[in-house]
This record gives sequence, structure tokens and C-alpha cells, in this order.
Amino acid sequence: MPRRRKFHYLTRSLKKQYTTRKNLMRPKVIAGNWKMNKDLLETEGLINDLKRTVNFELGSAKVLLCPPFTSLSLAKKSIEGTPFLLGAQNMHYMDEGAYTGEISPKMLLSAGCQYVILGHSERRQIFGETNELINKKAKKALSVGLIPIICIGETLEEREKNITEQIVSVQIKGVLKDISSQDVEKCIMAYEPVWAIGTGKNATPQQAEDVHKFIRKLIGQLYSWNTAEKVVIQYGGSVKPENAGDLLLQPNIDGALVGGACLKADSFTAIIKAALR
Ligand code: 13P
Repeated sequence: MPRRRKFHYLTRSLKKQYTTRKNLMRPKVIAGNWKMNKDLLETEGLINDLKRTVNFELGSAKVLLCPPFTSLSLAKKSIEGTPFLLGAQNMHYMDEGAYTGEISPKMLLSAGCQYVILGHSERRQIFGETNELINKKAKKALSVGLIPIICIGETLEEREKNITEQIVSVQIKGVLKDISSQDVEKCIMAYEPVWAIGTGKNATPQQAEDVHKFIRKLIGQLYSWNTAEKVVIQYGGSVKPENAGDLLLQPNIDGALVGGACLKADSFTAIIKAALR
């Protein structure tokens, strides 16, 4: 019997308990997307500061640092003996070859990365990345054991036209095309409304939760409820110490993809603390 039928036999309250138990199994994942910031000296400085300020147990939470390519090796050395994990901000889908300026998954692995951000809206908007390309990259990342953090999200114009769900739905179907349920469970989805990125204007916890719930439901329809319950869905877009707590309290918000506020140890640490509450 297919897994998605499981709940036919459960009463409403049992179903709720089951879901709650599953929710608890999803770790909170806080990732710092450094974007094009920090040279080597600054990388070392920020990580040293973080080592001082993150002086508490993370429990099941995961904290990822995603510096620029040039800082990956140094960051890997600097985080030795800490609970921090390393991610990159992009990659090509080929192992090697004549692709001037590109970085391969193999190179990311050898630099110590476990994660890779794919399809960030800046890559989509400035560098023309499509759902099809992001799908190729995601498949490649999964095949070599890198966990993709796949970004989706609507523009202000799309939100104002009330087509957020259609946009997110097309993006999800495109980026997850032909990816198995086993692999989807490993992926992290990052809902980043474009209008909230770098603007200081975050989605309200309710606005974000509504879209996260929609994303989980859609993954449930495309795969199964069981699979959807395992997928970590991060929120990104002007996450700050002041709003992180309320955002991360939402049942379907499993973490944050942080831009500006991850560039200072104090603010990133405060966001990590908010995730542990
Ligand atoms: P800000 O936190 O600066 O809005 O950036 C969010 C983001 O793009 C993370 O990937």
C-alpha cells in the first residue's frame, strides 16, 4: 500500500500527534549566506568571532557557513573542532572541463563542503539561472553527496498579483523534476521572497508560514506526506535577531537562510540562539 494512504486509518487527533512527532524530528538549520563578502583576513576574523560568541550547545540544530569560493578552504580549517558546517553558494553540474570561471561539485567536496546553495534569486535574476539548470545542479549535488539548499520565491510584482503559490509551484516542480523521494528528503528548500531580500522588510511570520505550508503540501502531493514531513524548509529574506524568534516558531519554518545579518558574529549568534528556543 502506498505510504500516502497511511493517514486514512488515523483519527484527526492521532494524525496531529503523528505530525507533531515528525515535526520534532526536523532539525533547525541556520545557514549564513555570505554572498560576495569577506576576503581571507575577514573570513578568519568572522569565524574567530563566531567561535567566541557561539559558546553554547547547538543540540540537534545545524549551523552552516557559506562563504565565497575563495574562503572555503580557509573556513574549513578555521571551523575544525567546532559544530559549524560548510557550504558553497553555487556550483556547476559538471565534474570538470572547459567552463571558465566555474566551480565543480568535486572541487567543493575537496574543499570540505557538505552543502551547496542553488538557484538563489540573485543567480536567477542577475545570472539568468532557470529552474531547468537548477534542477541539473540539484541532481548532480545529490549524486555526489552534497546537500542542496534550493532557493525559490516570488517577486514583489508576483505577490501583488496574488500569484505567489503559482510561481512557487512552477519553481518547485521544475527544480525537483525527476528527483526521487529518497533524494528529496535530503534536500533543503529555502523560501526566499525576492521582495524581502536585502530590503529590511521581512515576510511576517504568518506570510512565511502560509507559503511554507503550501510548499510542504505540494511536496506531499508530488511525493508523499511522509516525504514532505522530512523536508527542511528554511525562510530567507531580512532575517534579523529581532524577527528570527517569531519566524522560527512557525510549525513549517525549519530554519533560516541569512544574508546581511550573518556577516557579524553578534547578529548571527542571536539568530542561532533564537532557533534553539
Ligand atoms: P538578507 O538576509 O540580507 O535579506 O539576504 C537573504 C538572502 O538572500 C539569503 O540567501
